[in-house]
Amino acid sequence: MATRRILLADDPLLRKKSKKVKQFDGTLQALVEDMVETMHSANGIGLAAPQIGVLQRVIVVQLPEEYEDAGAGTLYTLVNPQIVKASREREAGNEGCLSVPGIVGEIERACQVTVKAQNTKGKPIQIHAEGFLARVFQHEIDHLDGILFIDRAAGPEKLRRVTPEGESQPLDIAA
Ligand code: NI
Repeated sequence: MATRRILLADDPLLRKKSKKVKQFDGTLQALVEDMVETMHSANGIGLAAPQIGVLQRVIVVQLPEEYEDAGAGTLYTLVNPQIVKASREREAGNEGCLSVPGIVGEIERACQVTVKAQNTKGKPIQIHAEGFLARVFQHEIDHLDGILFIDRAAGPEKLRRVTPEGESQPLDIAA
């Protein structure tokens, strides 16, 4: 396992559409292990493969165990994830991104989503997520299509800079 460098927002790779994974082999397993290690070492709660420069449709998500949100503590590894259902009900909430350090934004997302994906063996899985977990899935799946959370802000007034002191506040989300 290795920690990989996380690309920053000005990197053109973050704007590309990632490719569907077709081979469920040791290379995929190694990629996932590196992604999990990179996410943990950056204190992130989610990471998409393009953030480490790999244009494959893979995301990992793990909310810290101490969070009260559904799914907290569970490590989700989703290969070829697709949102197959999203609630009409939407809510605004704060987001940040490991590729966009020092910025948080108030972003509107669907409150609930159903995600279909495959595991690292290629087995189909389906997850229903709501609230914060649903938000993180939407954020990570956006990365696979070259979309950053800052693109989803309704206006520049919805984005703000955070100081290092501010980063310890619960509003900050690194994904
Ligand atoms: Ni992100």
